[in-house]
Amino acid sequence: MQPKAFIFDLDGVLTSTDKYHFLAWKQLADRLGLDFTETVNEKLKGVDRLTSLEIILAHNGVSDKFSDSEKAALANEKNEYYKTLILKMTKADILPGIENFLAVLREKGIKTGVASVSKNADTVLSVLNIKNRFDYIADAAKVTKPKPDPEIFALCASELGFEGNDCVGVEDAQSGIEAITAAGMFSVGIGVEVTSVHPRLELGSTAELDFEKICEAYTAWRNSQ
Ligand code: BG6
Ligand code: MG
Repeated sequence: MQPKAFIFDLDGVLTSTDKYHFLAWKQLADRLGLDFTETVNEKLKGVDRLTSLEIILAHNGVSDKFSDSEKAALANEKNEYYKTLILKMTKADILPGIENFLAVLREKGIKTGVASVSKNADTVLSVLNIKNRFDYIADAAKVTKPKPDPEIFALCASELGFEGNDCVGVEDAQSGIEAITAAGMFSVGIGVEVTSVHPRLELGSTAELDFEKICEAYTAWRNSQ
């Protein structure tokens, strides 16, 4: 049995933008004299911009030191740093095995989608020149609820014309795995730091994406439903 569509998260699945998110937050944290480490950064994966800022401020015990408008300005400042970094990206920023895997899906006639809460998703896909590899792109502008709400994956599946269990969702963040699961899809995790819901199939990196292996696990899951 083959899935009818694959829906990919963007940051940390299709491309290594997670390192640029880290560098941009680090630049802001340094300017403000705040502590920001890779461990804190891990908690920001799949989390929207303003909530990410709240997590950094809370980690430093300074949440109530800034008004809402100051927080919006700080989130915007981070985004300006981030935009200068992503505009310099090249094909080398596409994660290992992704281009080949997308080519395999095209060859098999399987639909592809992107489900990303990033407001920069369109720019990132354009800079990497892979926008035309997807049949539908669901981004922050099209949904109201952040992951782990299933809205963004459910929208992508319905726009592609399929039910949740026809689709495979691929994610690197715990919130994303929860969203895929709640949307009734088969989940593939890429190096996810699992704190609650496990992916149906756990892979160490995108280089391990293997169509036959995923179909095998997907078939077993469908037969068990
Ligand atoms: C997610 C990233 O894909 O997008 C988060 O994993 C990021 O780290 C979020 O905060 C929002 O991105 P942006 O580009 O709108 O700031
Ligand atoms: Mg991600």
